[in-house]
Amino acid sequence: MASAFPDGFLWGGATAANQLEGGWDAGGRGPSVDDHFLGGTVDTPRMITLGIDPTRFYPNHDGIDFYHRYKEDIALFAEMGFNVFRMSIAWSRIFPNGDDAEPNEAGLAFYDKVFDELVGRGIQPLVTLSHYEMPYHLVEKYNGWESRELIALFERYAKTVIDRYHDRVKLWITFNEINLGAYDMGNLFETSMIRGFEGPASEAYTTAQQRYQALHHQFVASGRVIRYGHATYPDLRFANMDCFILTYPMTCDPAGVLLNEREMRTRNWYCSDVQVRGAYPSYARRLWEEEGVELAIADGDLDDIAAGTIDFYTFSYYMSNVVSTHEHEDTKGNMTTGGVNPYLESTDWGWQIDPDGLRFSLNEIYDRYQIPLMVVENGMGALDTVEEDGSIHDDYRIGYLRRHVAAMREAVADGVDLMGYTWWGPIDLVSAGTGEMRKRYGFIYVDKHDDGSGDYSRLRKDSFFAYQRIIKSNGADGLE
Ligand code: BG6
Repeated sequence: MASAFPDGFLWGGATAANQLEGGWDAGGRGPSVDDHFLGGTVDTPRMITLGIDPTRFYPNHDGIDFYHRYKEDIALFAEMGFNVFRMSIAWSRIFPNGDDAEPNEAGLAFYDKVFDELVGRGIQPLVTLSHYEMPYHLVEKYNGWESRELIALFERYAKTVIDRYHDRVKLWITFNEINLGAYDMGNLFETSMIRGFEGPASEAYTTAQQRYQALHHQFVASGRVIRYGHATYPDLRFANMDCFILTYPMTCDPAGVLLNEREMRTRNWYCSDVQVRGAYPSYARRLWEEEGVELAIADGDLDDIAAGTIDFYTFSYYMSNVVSTHEHEDTKGNMTTGGVNPYLESTDWGWQIDPDGLRFSLNEIYDRYQIPLMVVENGMGALDTVEEDGSIHDDYRIGYLRRHVAAMREAVADGVDLMGYTWWGPIDLVSAGTGEMRKRYGFIYVDKHDDGSGDYSRLRKDSFFAYQRIIKSNGADGLE
């Protein structure tokens, strides 16, 4: 069967430094926000500690030890047929405190080696500049993105790495899931406004004023970096990254439909409307008023936003939710909740599985913006069992993968300009939401467990071969 995916379609996997690398204090790296998070579960929130308690287990400190095993892992990605690998740079490897006078050469050299290895194997890096982390010092000094100071510090960090790696890295994302900055819980990861906070992550609340102001600072920072990148290296392309959680009105009650429109705007459209169009959307003023937000916009901010629009739109897609003005049951998410949809099944962590929703989302996003799209996260966290012979039969993950790739194929046939797909966590890594290892996403199993035990050895799961088959045929084969 001929493939419905365009030639040169990007197939690969997506990761984040803090969940993958480990080596948290190696090579001059400074502590990052995530190094202060203990592990949790689906029902128990992660705890944040002010200091690092040497008697406790911090799952991100060692990640899955990619820092030392990157060659072996990249060889496995190449074996699956990846032509793209999404990863992030740990800001605290480059500027250990965030405001150091000079970058840390050992940190820069580490990513030189990783990019050389990827490019040498024909895998294009797609790099996120900020994926849920910053040097912890910037939290203590500035309360993260609440402060305008972060704009210049981020700009310096971003220019440093773009200047260093532009010959090997052509595709860049400024902020991971920037839209979570507007959510109560999501902003904890996205904007790091936790100065002085110790306790359950679920209780680290901020005000709407703080959240929208922090987002404004990120829009300006992103705009300045993209403006610089475009002017200095015309072959680079830049993207946003949104956590797209499609919401459906649960009933046809017009009040619920209006509520859903508001949810779609605040959750899914607000940030990308700014980053694609280069200006705040028409509904922003009323939204700020209703949320009691008075945005401080400095001279030049709106110019930076206007000049730094994105070249392609990227997003994560895991689930959908429903919205209603009527009584309904709530589902679980890692940083979000929504209504239960009786037509969908859920993962063990309560995320509703909705491949048709991916096709619908792709069409909605493309209709709105008409720029190339890329699905840069999609995946299923599940419990895996290793058989005595070392095999792992993860049919549930294969089914999820196939159904979502088939949905993308339909969207492409609908006319959507889709560039690529990176599965979240092609190798098991530390969960962002719960800090667990047992919530596994990988096609590659990693022998590390929630009590810190394990020898970090890697095993190929059945899904490894299923994805390999899909990639080999450019999506024409392996979806049945
Ligand atoms: C996205 C993040 O929200 O979802 C990733 O960009 C995260 O960092 C992924 O790991 C899956 O979420 P979780 O909580 O299952 O790790």
